[in-house]
Amino acid sequence: MRIAIASDHGGFDAKEQLRTWLEQAGHECVDFGCNSTDSVDYPDYAVPVAESVATGRCERGVLVCGTGIGMSLAANKVHGIRAANVTSVPFAELCREHNDANVITLSGRFVSLEDNKRIVEAFLDTQFAGGRHSTRVSKIMAIEQES
Ligand code: RB5
Repeated sequence: MRIAIASDHGGFDAKEQLRTWLEQAGHECVDFGCNSTDSVDYPDYAVPVAESVATGRCERGVLVCGTGIGMSLAANKVHGIRAANVTSVPFAELCREHNDANVITLSGRFVSLEDNKRIVEAFLDTQFAGGRHSTRVSKIMAIEQES
């Protein structure tokens, strides 16, 4: 799968390790930075990842900051993006099954690397359930046209 990935300084170490791990698993990663632990602003990294997913260049996005919260707030401003801030495997499965999330945002400071790997694995492997959830997701996406 082609995956867009980025972080701010709070998620830099986790992002680097997740990218290496994803590439070793056979995924193609497009890394939008950042490139060190120097302080940066997370919206500058969330938007390129979100746009690459929204345009179809990448199939999914992975964003890491201190909590994952700022990244999710910024990514969800891009039309076509359903970004979920996830800190557990069950929520990773549910954000795919019920919400058809196309971007996952992770905490580099409060969740271990091993837990984040399991979360990303679940995010990539779980299919959208469709059915009644399609109606609800369509209503979310319609908000972009109406507001
Ligand atoms: C940066 O200190 C921190 O605010 C950021 O990584 C993130 O947690 C914001 O939501």
